[in-house]
Amino acid sequence: MKIGIFDSGIGGLTVLKAIRERYDKVDIVYLGDTARVPYGTKSAETVIRYSIECSNFLIDKGIDLLVVACNTASSYALNTLKNDLSIPVVGVIEPGVKKAVRLSKGDKIGVIGTTATIKSGAYQKLLDLYGKKSISKACPLFVPLAEEGITEGEIAYKIVAYYLEDIKREGVDALILGCTHYPLLKNTISKFMGPVPIIDSADAVAEEIEEIIENRGEGTLDLYFTDISPNLQNMASRILGENIYVNHINVPCSL
Ligand code: DGL
Repeated sequence: MKIGIFDSGIGGLTVLKAIRERYDKVDIVYLGDTARVPYGTKSAETVIRYSIECSNFLIDKGIDLLVVACNTASSYALNTLKNDLSIPVVGVIEPGVKKAVRLSKGDKIGVIGTTATIKSGAYQKLLDLYGKKSISKACPLFVPLAEEGITEGEIAYKIVAYYLEDIKREGVDALILGCTHYPLLKNTISKFMGPVPIIDSADAVAEEIEEIIENRGEGTLDLYFTDISPNLQNMASRILGENIYVNHINVPCSL
């Protein structure tokens, strides 16, 4: 079975890692749209267009399942992709919400994500459907922090505290990390929030696809990025915990 995963950049490798740890035999093709990252500050129309282009690239690779690892793309483009494609399409929002509902003892759930994800209301609406109250916050500095590898220590802690102090004061029964990059800051977020379940949508999506996945194949991994910056290979290897080879690809602007 071949799974296609796309994200706006390297953050989706957290989702890839969670999937690979669980299903070691599947073949994976990953596309990180590093030339156009961030998606989290862009309009819905642009995020949808980029998502269609990334998906078409992966469809051409012969995938059987598409995982939209990017929360921003999942917020805006999931329905379009589900309608347009003939293979199963899974986003990260529903798995994260379901896991939060399962693990929280009360009914107030915090959600953090990019400005676009929070503005879309995708998490908030779904939590509402599950009868949960939500308190949400965009944390735009978390993405560059993670990309710079500043995930622990004083600076990371202060920035985490700056964004999360309202949520902590309000008190939540679980906190959803609604952005691919945030699992990289999980330790620091956890340190600041104390004993609150922190829901990593990367793990949640890996669990969610259990029913549709067949763990068979060669276990191959093909990584494509639309831009290869000097730091990319290092960052990607660091996130995946293994030395990897990355390919450069130009995703066409209109397909
Ligand atoms: N991948 C994006 C997300 O999960 C974060 C980075 C970006 O803004 O593109 O929302």
